[in-house]
Amino acid sequence: MDYQAIGQDALARIAAADTLEAVEALRIEFLGKQGSVSALLKTLGALSPEERQTTGPKIHALREGVTEALAAAKAALEGAALEARLAAETIDLTLPAPEAPRGSVHPVSQVMDELAEIFADMGFAVATGPEIEDDWHNFTALNMPESHPARAMHDTFYLPDVTPPDADGNTREMVLRTHTSPVQIRTMLAASGDGGEPVRIIAPGRVYRSDSDATHTPMFHQVEGLVIDKGIHLGHLKWTLETVLKAFFERDDIVLRLRPSYFPFTEPSVEVDTGYSWVDGRRVVGGSGDAPGHSWMELLGSGMVNRHVLEAGGFDPDQWQGFAFGVGVDRLAMLKYGMNDLRAFFDGDVRWLRHYGFSALDVPTLSAGVGVAA
Ligand code: PHE
Repeated sequence: MDYQAIGQDALARIAAADTLEAVEALRIEFLGKQGSVSALLKTLGALSPEERQTTGPKIHALREGVTEALAAAKAALEGAALEARLAAETIDLTLPAPEAPRGSVHPVSQVMDELAEIFADMGFAVATGPEIEDDWHNFTALNMPESHPARAMHDTFYLPDVTPPDADGNTREMVLRTHTSPVQIRTMLAASGDGGEPVRIIAPGRVYRSDSDATHTPMFHQVEGLVIDKGIHLGHLKWTLETVLKAFFERDDIVLRLRPSYFPFTEPSVEVDTGYSWVDGRRVVGGSGDAPGHSWMELLGSGMVNRHVLEAGGFDPDQWQGFAFGVGVDRLAMLKYGMNDLRAFFDGDVRWLRHYGFSALDVPTLSAGVGVAA
């Protein structure tokens, strides 16, 4: 057999192949299991040792030549394809990069951060307490004994658990805290030892009530405020709230009206109203509620800390006085940023968040999200 002729013919066909598919087809035709060169190799076994000595090297040389030619043809075609792609595809470095998805700060977190910042400038620290509270901290210590009617007003979520028994074997019922006021008690107990030290804190966080409609959600947010010192009076409360609200709403014409009210834990108690008017279908805080086109709106509850509460917190009420307030964060956010449905705050709709949320990169965040229970 003329191995040289077979070889030349194979090499010529490989050289003529102009696609990778064609090269692959030739590889199968020559070197595949049923391939012609493979078939020649198989004939070696049937030859006499002398014939094998002369024919063997020729067939092996033939296979090697074909293998190398196939690899070279493949490499050449791949190289050409890459060159063609590089020539066709140009990268425009001036095009804007696709934007990566970015989260945003929820308006509730934003408002808590703003308040923490404003109060921090006035020397207030941020205090926290548990969201699962016992009824002594949530009610009893706040001057709401067991059968007190104000307990009923709170629409409390009771939990099946009770606290471990104390030295006298008494247990306390566990509730989801209905307000941030139990943090007052925890803070006072921590500060009242050794005769006591002044307290100036705010306590932002989640609170829970069994209540749901357009203006009430079962979970909402409050910021509690507490100041304990000697010689504290209602004037300090009014000045503090006025100063904070001017900073928060970023306007100087905030006018407050203190209206007598009732909370078991403060005496006297005052409901704080602010003047507002309607501008383009939105409530805008500012001015006196008695001015033309203006009205009063209830903003928060507050008062002087009741002496029973000071005592529960370990302070001597004949030496120490204090004021406290509690304000709805969701409400403040709605007023400042113009949302009108409270429920949307908790729907987790990203379109709403994109619209009302805040860039995490533009604002410093102090609370790192909604108040964490200690
Ligand atoms: N805890 C009250 C509430 O949830 C608000 C409040 C706090 C009132 C502190 C007076 C003093 O409605």
